[in-house]
Amino acid sequence: MLIIFYVLLLVNIGRCSDHQIFDTKTVAVGQNVTLNCSRDHLWHLTNLFWIRLVSQTFPEILGSTISHNVEIIEKINHITTKQEPGAFVLHMNRAQLNDTAVYYCIKVTERKMTFLKGTFLRIKGPETGISSVAQDFLSDLLHQGDPVTLQCSVLSNSENKTCTEAHSVYWYRAKPDDTHASLIYAHGTSGYNCEQSPEAPSQQKCVYSFSKNISSSDTGVYYCAVATCGEIFFGNGTKLDVEGRFFFQ
Ligand SMILES: *[C@@H]1O[C@H](CO)[C@@H](O)[C@H](O)[C@H]1NC(C)=O
Ligand SMILES: *[C@@H]1O[C@H](CO)[C@@H](O)[C@H](O)[C@H]1NC(C)=O
Ligand SMILES: *[C@@H]1O[C@H](CO)[C@@H](O)[C@H](O)[C@H]1NC(C)=O
Ligand SMILES: *[C@@H]1O[C@H](CO)[C@@H](O)[C@H](O)[C@H]1NC(C)=O
Ligand SMILES: *[C@@H]1O[C@H](CO)[C@@H](O)[C@H](O)[C@H]1NC(C)=O
Ligand SMILES: *[C@@H]1O[C@H](CO)[C@@H](O)[C@H](O)[C@H]1NC(C)=O
Repeated sequence: MLIIFYVLLLVNIGRCSDHQIFDTKTVAVGQNVTLNCSRDHLWHLTNLFWIRLVSQTFPEILGSTISHNVEIIEKINHITTKQEPGAFVLHMNRAQLNDTAVYYCIKVTERKMTFLKGTFLRIKGPETGISSVAQDFLSDLLHQGDPVTLQCSVLSNSENKTCTEAHSVYWYRAKPDDTHASLIYAHGTSGYNCEQSPEAPSQQKCVYSFSKNISSSDTGVYYCAVATCGEIFFGNGTKLDVEGRFFFQ
């Protein structure tokens, strides 16, 4: 009776078409990644491969094995492939940004090739926690010689923040007759003021200011930009209108 049961089970496995899975995984840079592909040691004359595809280049073969249980470990840089019970596993030690790719596990039985598993793996950089960059709105018309202070407020939440780099703040000006903004000032590590929200301690607001005595040529839109951990955030800009610029041109 038991033998009949096993025979039926085998026949059933033999008939079963391969199960294909495609999934998406997002992982922070520096994390370890494990991709799992199912393997049956009863598969006949079968090889398994892990490959990855990055656009504009050839697929890269990361490792191979056979369906039977064997100790084959292949290692290319920080990627290792090996068998585990019921699986052919790809381990990535400390993922880098350029590991973002589509990974496929392929089964090759004689002349038949099947994609068993596909994973779009996205490696994301450190979380900056920045939620918004706001600038003031100045409604008054300014006069030559007036002192003006522009402020750039950066709101951030430290809850899921993984970026430890300080903010670099830049000021750009776009003149009315110019389509390109040019850099006018880069903050050092001073000249700002950060405070935590009393009701939500993970919320922080940092105000970066830039002061200037206005001259006739200062009309334009002033943008602040905050760069940190490979990302850049722009404010919406503050428009400065200097009266009398036409007389001084
Ligand atoms: C990643 O794996 C390596 C070796 O397998 C281990 O030493 C390291 O602690 C792991 N790192 C993380 C972030 O889990
Ligand atoms: C991979 O999948 C097999 C079969 O589903 C399972 O036994 C194994 O625990 C999995 N391994 C990992 C690392 O997820
Ligand atoms: C991926 O980036 C790392 C550094 O972040 C570099 O060492 C490695 O050569 C890069 N790999 C490829 C394939 O460009
Ligand atoms: C900036 O401009 C965008 C689009 O015009 C708008 O959706 C957003 O609310 C503005 N942000 C601030 C802080 O004013
Ligand atoms: C932090 O991550 C948790 C879990 O992913 C999420 O629920 C929460 O909204 C995140 N908080 C912020 C401020 O993004
Ligand atoms: C603006 O002018 C005042 C008076 O001339 C001077 O003390 C101040 O340093 C100037 N500010 C800037 C930002 O140049």
